[in-house]
Amino acid sequence: MPSYLLSLDQGTTSSRAIVFSHQGEIVATGQHEFPQHFPHPGWVEHEPQDIWNSTIDSAREAIEKAGIQAADITAIGITNQRETTLVWDRHTGEPVYRAIVWQDRRTADECLPLQQHTEMLRELTGLLPDPYFSATKIAWILDNVEGARVRAEAGDLLFGTVDSYLLWRLTDGAVHATDATNASRTLLFNIHTQQWDEELLALFRVPRQMLPEVKDSAAEFGHSAAHWFGGEITIAGIAGDQQAALIGQACFSEGMAKSTYGTGCFVILNTGKQALMSEHRLLTTVAYRLNGQVTYALEGSIFMAGATIQWIRDGLQLISNAQESQSLAEETGYDNPVYMVPAFAGLGAPYWDPDARGAILGLSRDTGIKEIVTAGLQAVCYQTRDLLDAMAGDGVRPAELRVDGGMVVNDWLVQCLADISGVPISRPKVTETTALGAAFLAGLQTGVFNSLDDVSQLWVHERAFIPELDVTTRERLYQGWQSAVKRVCKVE
Ligand code: G3P
Repeated sequence: MPSYLLSLDQGTTSSRAIVFSHQGEIVATGQHEFPQHFPHPGWVEHEPQDIWNSTIDSAREAIEKAGIQAADITAIGITNQRETTLVWDRHTGEPVYRAIVWQDRRTADECLPLQQHTEMLRELTGLLPDPYFSATKIAWILDNVEGARVRAEAGDLLFGTVDSYLLWRLTDGAVHATDATNASRTLLFNIHTQQWDEELLALFRVPRQMLPEVKDSAAEFGHSAAHWFGGEITIAGIAGDQQAALIGQACFSEGMAKSTYGTGCFVILNTGKQALMSEHRLLTTVAYRLNGQVTYALEGSIFMAGATIQWIRDGLQLISNAQESQSLAEETGYDNPVYMVPAFAGLGAPYWDPDARGAILGLSRDTGIKEIVTAGLQAVCYQTRDLLDAMAGDGVRPAELRVDGGMVVNDWLVQCLADISGVPISRPKVTETTALGAAFLAGLQTGVFNSLDDVSQLWVHERAFIPELDVTTRERLYQGWQSAVKRVCKVE
């Protein structure tokens, strides 16, 4: 009897694969980093072959470490960096351009005239006209790669987010599909009708025939061809990584929220059957679609979280590993006069200023490495508070925030999050919640789990972080952050 689930987690800086038991425990993992390409300021690209090789290598590594065969795996779940855009030839599989990554700002100018359509875009897609999303990236490829538009109109090119590209390759080109969570990040998908929208396709000049079929997040997506893993495996779950983390955190009831600290930070709040439209520039998005039923979410997206600490480590070389940041922050304490606004790729929610650039403020002669490193960590906390305040402004303040992602091993950071946000934080035992969420979806489809309640039983709490800071200090520190943000971007 097969008794494992294989999760493929294709992220921004690395691909991971995790073999889970049917009880949701990690059995083995594989991970491969791959190069980032920055051909011009503000541009970020990935080589599609690197995305593919690192995924397949990680999967084979995890299967081998687990000491199992394809036949022992009930199903595969795929989760992925969202919005990142690929266009490839349906006959040869050859990509016509590198993958344009979600962080890429090259279409900022194309987004300016789209601002006259902001209300319409918000109503249909829950998103804003920003280069972050896929639509302007597709149009850029069609307009800038010679012959691409003609080939796309003739039906020879396919578009996909990373999940769709991996599915197509795993099935040897047999299946061109995606799930509703990934579709909801393109600016082309009507989140109410759950269809690609003709008006949006016309606005962004994207030919309908390029687009994948949109399925539920737990569905029969196809089978990986036998030669990849020594036997066919059913692919039964797909979700964008942030939505997968919501599922892995078992946030299945209205009002439950999670925050993931990877390259960026993404807070997602389950709003149930209601597609709540934010008055505070948060996104409305599909949390998951199961049995044709859509659950919606409000999302706050911050572009730089772990990537800020990576920059402090690799760019500034102030620390040699991320763990050092915790002891430096403990030494500095909260009362740090230095503020860092990590607007390296513009600012996301709730500011949405693609032209903002980063700054370090409040420097004096006695400022040293530790204050700057601490400011990097504090920026993550202040930005999370921005998002939670925006959610509260829209009428929902979560009673607790479930956190995950690489950064949350840092106890100082998580306590600071609780103190700055005033919200109790809960850290689960398995912090690989993105991969876990994809495994849950695959397990739901294949009968390993019968319901979301079954899945909730597997979520295990590890530690709670309760706000301890007095309100006056908390508000004083946060006001310092707000003044710093005003120095670098247009705050409305
Ligand atoms: O929207 C972008 C997001 O999906 C990227 O996630 O984990 O690669 O930072 P991550």
